[in-house]
Amino acid sequence: MTEGNDTAPDAPPGVDVDNPSAARVYDWYLGGTQNWAVDREFGRRMEAFWPHAKHGSRHNRQFMNRAVRAALDAGIRQFIDLGSGVPTVGNVHEVVREHLDPGEHAAVIYVDYEAVAAAHARVILEREEATEWAALVQEDMRNSKAILEHPETQRLIDFDQPVCVLMLAVLHFVGPDDNPSALIHSYIDPLRPGSWLALSHMTVPDDPEEAAGVARFAEHYKSTSNPVWLREREEITSWFDGWNLLEPGITHQADWRPEVDSSTLPPRELAAKPYAWCGVAEKPA
Ligand SMILES: C[S@@+](CC[C@H](N)C(=O)[O-])C[C@H]1O[C@@H](n2cnc3c(N)ncnc32)[C@H](O)[C@@H]1O
Repeated sequence: MTEGNDTAPDAPPGVDVDNPSAARVYDWYLGGTQNWAVDREFGRRMEAFWPHAKHGSRHNRQFMNRAVRAALDAGIRQFIDLGSGVPTVGNVHEVVREHLDPGEHAAVIYVDYEAVAAAHARVILEREEATEWAALVQEDMRNSKAILEHPETQRLIDFDQPVCVLMLAVLHFVGPDDNPSALIHSYIDPLRPGSWLALSHMTVPDDPEEAAGVARFAEHYKSTSNPVWLREREEITSWFDGWNLLEPGITHQADWRPEVDSSTLPPRELAAKPYAWCGVAEKPA
């Protein structure tokens, strides 16, 4: 039996299963089943350049879970998750459902332009009877106007109340020509004070050998429909300007309010740490 899921999933109409997609490769890194042979083969090749893809993806997913729980603890009940991916392990609406008391109001908008991520999210939301409070908008996140004005966003999100915007492991797919800073502002400027922005982004570590490995990884993504741009901590930090960065500030994902001290992680998990930065900030009054 081959690793992953060779029997399924049935490709939704129009899905390109001849070329890898970032959403499905990431699903494979996370141990999900919504990926095809082409995605797994690409993922394995990437691991040959940079052996930290699986642990790095898990650090990112765990950061997302902790950030969502922190937002819920702060009283935020609305989430817009941009580049949400295949809803594999521990997705936003699941964290929300687990954390809140039954009957407590919440709203989640997932946004992804990838057909499999979108189709699978819709199936899961229907199966879990969550469509009254969670929805998927299949759209390119660079079209913020279309997303913010989308009927599902308008149905579920009350912009007079705080919103948590999540941009996790997605902005490294946004090139300089698409001006990530302006894109972020197009989402967060209309939000009311008390709203949150949670963000994670791949970077280049200081160690030259580590830097060379992840640079080769990013270089190979450049030949796909999802090119990757690695960015420095300084640029990522600048995206929070004007907002109050919450403790502990800009960190690697495993160090953002960790449940276990990251220095005690097994060596292979620890080795995946320096390849991304993350942070969470609140809009001031
Ligand atoms: C690495 S996954 C991250 C998934 C999730 N945010 C997480 O952190 O676990 C990146 C996702 O962003 C999506 N994506 C990339 N560029 C996008 C764009 N311009 N618009 C919408 N989705 C995009 C990909 O399809 C993929 O599902």
